[in-house]
Amino acid sequence: MKQMLVAGNWKMNKDISESVALVSEILSSLDGKDLKSKVLVCPPFTSIPVVQKLIENTTLLLGAQNCHYESKGAYTGEISPSMLKSAGCEYVIVGHSERRAYFFETDNIVNKKVIALLAHNLKPIFCIGETLNERNDGLTFDVVERQIQLGLKDVVPEQIARIVIAYEPVWAIGTGVTATVEQIDEAHRFIRNRLVELFGSRANDVIILYGGSVNSQNCPEIFAISEVNGALVGGASLVGKEFVSIIDSSETIASSTQ
Ligand code: PGA
Repeated sequence: MKQMLVAGNWKMNKDISESVALVSEILSSLDGKDLKSKVLVCPPFTSIPVVQKLIENTTLLLGAQNCHYESKGAYTGEISPSMLKSAGCEYVIVGHSERRAYFFETDNIVNKKVIALLAHNLKPIFCIGETLNERNDGLTFDVVERQIQLGLKDVVPEQIARIVIAYEPVWAIGTGVTATVEQIDEAHRFIRNRLVELFGSRANDVIILYGGSVNSQNCPEIFAISEVNGALVGGASLVGKEFVSIIDSSETIASSTQ
């Protein structure tokens, strides 16, 4: 069966009452369904406790959008992996292009986060992807290669299947422009091959998500791409019906590849 995961990245959206409303809507739509896909929501930090309560004992999983790499200490404003673990998170997004671009996170910082999360038994959702200029300059694979090499430095083969990769071309994020099926197929094959070369056959079990303007309309053809194991969804994850419809498409693929 093809592994599928649908993750909602709410970014800096939804206060506590809005978070309750959205999760409640998702839960009631999924009620009674025996999901074959993993489904994950990543609310802002302030909503994590309330969302955790709502999804306890359901099939929905919980993730955070960022973390620091130290366990504790004088890092004003930061949240550590162990804090997220104690709040009930199982996944943490790291290396999102918005963090790389607006908060100056380097490959080295992202790598420290990946290593720290693995040490705390959390699953990193490790984001990679090229900018439009890089693509136009023919550098897509060089960039993805560099991000993999540096971001996954010191990860050992035994750990690789606990990492989720999200390929998100920066030019497709929040723009309404989705990469073409050919572009996604080519990038995901490249990523899978490089992971297998670096980490061996265990890398065949790594979940590789696509992200960038995924919605209920375009997800069926994206999910049908062989090396795509689901999506990291931003804007469309903020609307209950849209998100549930994306989950339904993922379920179609997961069931058809049983
Ligand atoms: P988008 O965001 O779906 O709004 O393009 C995806 C992401 O940034 O993870």
